[in-house]
Amino acid sequence: MCGIVGAVAKRPVAELLIDGLKKLEYRGYDSAGIAMIDAEQQLKRLRVAGKVRELENALHAHPFQGHTGIAHTRWATHGAPSEKNAHPFTSHDEFALVHNGIIENHSLLREQLQRDGYHFSSETDTEVAVHLIHKNYLQTKDLLAAVRSAASQLKGAYALGIISKWYPGRLIAVRQGSPLVIGKGLGENFIASDPLALLSVTKQFIYLEDNDLADVTIDSIRIYNQEQQVVHRECHTLTISHDAVERGEYRHYMKKEIMEQPEAMASCLEGRVAEDHVLPAIFGPKAEKIFSHVEHVQLIACGTSYHAAMVTRYWIESLAHVPCSVEIASEFRYREIAKPKNSLFVTLSQSGETADTLAALRLAKKMDYLSTLAICNVPGSSMIREADLPFLTRAGIEIGVASTKAFVTQLTSLFLLALVLRRSGGGDAALEVELVRQLRHVPALVEEILQQDVTISNWAKTFMNKQHALFIGRGTLYPIALEGALKMKEISYIHAEGYPSGELKHGPLALVDNAIPVITMVPGDALLEKSLSNLQEVRARGGRLYVLTDQAQLFQQDVFSDAQIMNMPSIHPLLNPILYTVPLQLLAYHVAVLKGTDIDQPRNLAKSVTVE
Ligand code: M6R
Repeated sequence: MCGIVGAVAKRPVAELLIDGLKKLEYRGYDSAGIAMIDAEQQLKRLRVAGKVRELENALHAHPFQGHTGIAHTRWATHGAPSEKNAHPFTSHDEFALVHNGIIENHSLLREQLQRDGYHFSSETDTEVAVHLIHKNYLQTKDLLAAVRSAASQLKGAYALGIISKWYPGRLIAVRQGSPLVIGKGLGENFIASDPLALLSVTKQFIYLEDNDLADVTIDSIRIYNQEQQVVHRECHTLTISHDAVERGEYRHYMKKEIMEQPEAMASCLEGRVAEDHVLPAIFGPKAEKIFSHVEHVQLIACGTSYHAAMVTRYWIESLAHVPCSVEIASEFRYREIAKPKNSLFVTLSQSGETADTLAALRLAKKMDYLSTLAICNVPGSSMIREADLPFLTRAGIEIGVASTKAFVTQLTSLFLLALVLRRSGGGDAALEVELVRQLRHVPALVEEILQQDVTISNWAKTFMNKQHALFIGRGTLYPIALEGALKMKEISYIHAEGYPSGELKHGPLALVDNAIPVITMVPGDALLEKSLSNLQEVRARGGRLYVLTDQAQLFQQDVFSDAQIMNMPSIHPLLNPILYTVPLQLLAYHVAVLKGTDIDQPRNLAKSVTVE
C-alpha cells in the first residue's frame, strides 16, 4: 500500500506535500517522510515513525523548504514501522526515492549491491531501488537512463517517485503494477498515488499505465513507454470537489460515510432505474448481448467487497437462475480453475486497485471468460480502466478504512446486475417491477434506520468490555453477519465471528454463555421459524441476544424477555441485506468510539491494499 506524493513548482512545496500525504493516509499510516532539494541544491530529508501529523510537527521543529520534493506515508510490509524503515530512501545524499508496492527480488539485489559496496540502513525491500539508480547513474550520468535501467531490474509491483540533487526541478515517476497519477498544474506539476492527494492544487490528471516512466518539470510532462517511445496519455478533468474529502461536522469519516448512505444509494440508482424497471444498457452498450449468453457468473473480491459478492450469489441464482460462484481473489488467482462455459467474470472493489482482485482480473482476461465486468467506486482506477465492462457504484469518496457506503452501493449495483441478468435470461417483468419499486424506496428506509442511532449507541455500552461477539443470520443475511463481524473486529478490536444461524450447533454454540453477545437478524421471511429456533438454542445456553427484526411482537415471549430488540422496516426479503447492514455498521462504530480506538485508521490496516 503506502501513499506517494511529489511536486515540482515555482513555489515552496513542503506544505502541499504534507497536505497531500494527509489525504493519502488511508493507504497506510505507520511512518511518514519527506525529501526536498533546498536552495543550496542539497537533498534534505525528514522521517518519523507514526502519522503524517507527527511528520508535520517535526517539520515545524526543524523547518526546511524546496521547490522539488517527494513524500510518503507507509504501510509496513518489509521491516518494522520505524524511522529507519520510513521513506524516502536516499543514496549518497544524491538521490531520494519513495515507493509503493513490493519489490520481490530485493534480497538478491541487496546482496549484489552490498558486494558493490552499498551500505543499507533499513530492512525494507525499497532501499535497493535507490542504490540501483545511484549505481546506474555513476555509469551513465543520465538520470532517465539510470532510472529506466534500475526499473528493468526490479521484479514485483511498484510505483516510484525519484528526485536528484543533480536535477533540481525534475521529478521522475515510474509505474509498474501500483497506481500513480500525474497532476497538471500551472507552473507546477505533481505526482501522487491517488488524485485525492492533489485536489487542492489541480483537477487535471494523467493516469500512468504499467511500464510508463514520466519525466516531470514545472512546465513539461514527458511520458515514455517500455519501448522508450514518448507516448500520449489522456488528461482527465476530475469534478470532485475538495470539500468531498473533508469531515465536516462529523468526528470521524466513518460516521459521515454511514450517514451519507441514503444519498450514495440514490446517486447509484440515478439514471439507471425508471419508476418500475432497470433502464437498458446501464452496464454499457455491449453488455446486453454479452449477458444473453451468460451461463455462469464468477464473482471475485476481498474483504467487505467479498461479502457483497456473497450476497450477490443469492440474488443471481434466485432472480436470474444462473449458477454463480464466489471466491476470495487471493485464493482464485493461485489455484487451477475449471472454468464453466460462457462465464461472466465480475470483480468487486471499492478502490479498484486491490492487488489480489486486480491480479485476478488480469488473469481472467487471459482465460477466455465471456467478458469481464468491474463494479467499482473509483473512477479512473485500474479495474475500471481494464475491465471490458466498467460500472461505477458512485458512493463518493470513501476515506474511512472501514468500508460502509461503498458496500451498500456495491449491493445496490449488484442487485441491478441480478435484475438485468434475469431480464436477459427471459425472466418475467412482474417481479422486476415489484423489486425496482421497492429498491427505489430503500434509501428512505436507510434514512429511517439511521434515525435509530441512539438505540444502537445504547447497545454499544454493553459491548465495551467484551472480548468476543457472535453475529448470525440466514440466507442473504449470513454474509451480512460476516460483514457485521468484520466491521466490529476491524475498528473495535473485539474478536467477532459471523456464522449462518443454522451452523451454530455444529461448533460455535460451544462459545455461548451469558457473557457473549449474539447479534442476530430476524426478518419476517421464509426462514423466520428456522431463525427463531436457532435463537432458542442460544437462549437455552444463556446467550445474550441483540435482535434486529421487523417482527418485534414475536420477541415478547418469556424466553426472549431480556433480548435487546431493534425494530427494522419491512421490505421485500431480497433487499434485507442492504437494510440490515446499517445497524451493524453503527454498532461497530459506537463500540469503537467508547473504546477510544482510531476509527478511521485502525491499527495494522490500510484502506487500499495494493500489495498482495
Ligand atoms: O477496495 P476493495 O473493495 O477492493 O478493498 C477490499 C478490502 O480490502 C476492504 O473491503 C476491507 O476489507 C475493508 N477495510 C473492510 O471494511
